Amino acid sequence: MKKVGVAILGLGVVGGGTYEILTQNKETFKKIHGLDITVESVLEKNKERALSLGISEENIASSIEEVCSNPNVDIVVEVIGGIEPSKTFVTKALKSGKTVVTSNKELFARFWPELEKEAKKMHVGLFFEASCVGGVPIIRTLQEGMQANNLKSIKGIINGTTNYILTKMSSEGWSYEEALKQAQKLGYAEFNPTADVEGFDATYKLSILSSLAFNTKVSVEKVYREGITGIDKEDIAYGKKMGYTLKLLGIGKNTENGIEVRVHPTFIKNDNPLASVNDSFNAVHLVGDSVGEIMLYGRGAGALPTGSAIVSDVIFAAKHTEYYYASFDNTEKGAEKTKFVPDFTSQYYIRLSVKDASGVLAKIAGAFGKNNISLNEVFQVSVDEGVAQIIVTTHECYESNIKKAMNKISALDEVIKVNGCIRIEN
Ligand code: HSE
Repeated sequence: MKKVGVAILGLGVVGGGTYEILTQNKETFKKIHGLDITVESVLEKNKERALSLGISEENIASSIEEVCSNPNVDIVVEVIGGIEPSKTFVTKALKSGKTVVTSNKELFARFWPELEKEAKKMHVGLFFEASCVGGVPIIRTLQEGMQANNLKSIKGIINGTTNYILTKMSSEGWSYEEALKQAQKLGYAEFNPTADVEGFDATYKLSILSSLAFNTKVSVEKVYREGITGIDKEDIAYGKKMGYTLKLLGIGKNTENGIEVRVHPTFIKNDNPLASVNDSFNAVHLVGDSVGEIMLYGRGAGALPTGSAIVSDVIFAAKHTEYYYASFDNTEKGAEKTKFVPDFTSQYYIRLSVKDASGVLAKIAGAFGKNNISLNEVFQVSVDEGVAQIIVTTHECYESNIKKAMNKISALDEVIKVNGCIRIEN
């Protein structure tokens, strides 16, 4: 039986889950995979936490050097998160000839080329299934299940915290603040929720996923990002009446004009399969030219779901001696010949509070018309004390034109407030 030694760097939620799976399913791994996997070492500042998980004192390392020089360790699992000390630790592990498995999306999205270079130099593996969409095996699907396809698009709910918040704003009518507070209480959102609610977490994931999907490096800087902090529950409610569900989507498209990558709140039709992905669940929808549509659904976070992705990488690494690296030019900036769409198109939903006076609608329509924006629907949804609420939806138009039109419209004396401007994806 092949013996495999694992070290775990960080015993937080995901590290704990990984340890639990590796110890509880040890016999299964022996029986099914012929692998005797043992956690030989952990690196964790909080010694009590390690002891409470049942890890013996002699397996608690006091430094990364101790982990790296342990001859029984074959695979180092990094589940600390953030850039440092993770980057230093992962680099040291690779340099000392250990295969690395990481769940760290920020580290991976930003430093994939640099880390891969080290891995290649040492002929070791670098695995990252757990970096995107937790327990959902999207990385291996892209690497091993879609080779027959040219992928046209990848769209997903790839952040559970924001999906929980938007679901509750829709189903319970909670405000953003109320939903965030509840998400924090349940442990979905961090005390500082910026990475999730401002879309950074989803941006890192989309950068990794679209690089694999479109076989070219898509750096974090190429991804347009907008979070959910400006979303008003009124817009979710109006959208619902119009047949739309609001989601924070990661959208990657491979178009004739180039690659388009963006993360932003998006209205989708209620019958879109992504519309029924609720609470903290994640899902990724792919379109390939051979297979057509595929959707993967599951838990994008949590101890055991993310641990499941990590352990699948550990097993994969242990069973393979030839590791594959990116099949594209994996440099920081990517291949020069790769074209990115500079100005994407979308439909838009816009809600305005305006003075209830004659000629206002004509001025607003004029600003859209002058910027080549064709209107799809216009409703006056309420009038209260001389203030009218107007909702406009547009046909497909350029983002840059919407920006110009909205600058003009918000500067009109008759326009009191632009309440919401949300993209619609069909
Ligand atoms: N914080 C992330 C989420 C999970 O809410 O989906 C880890 O990426």
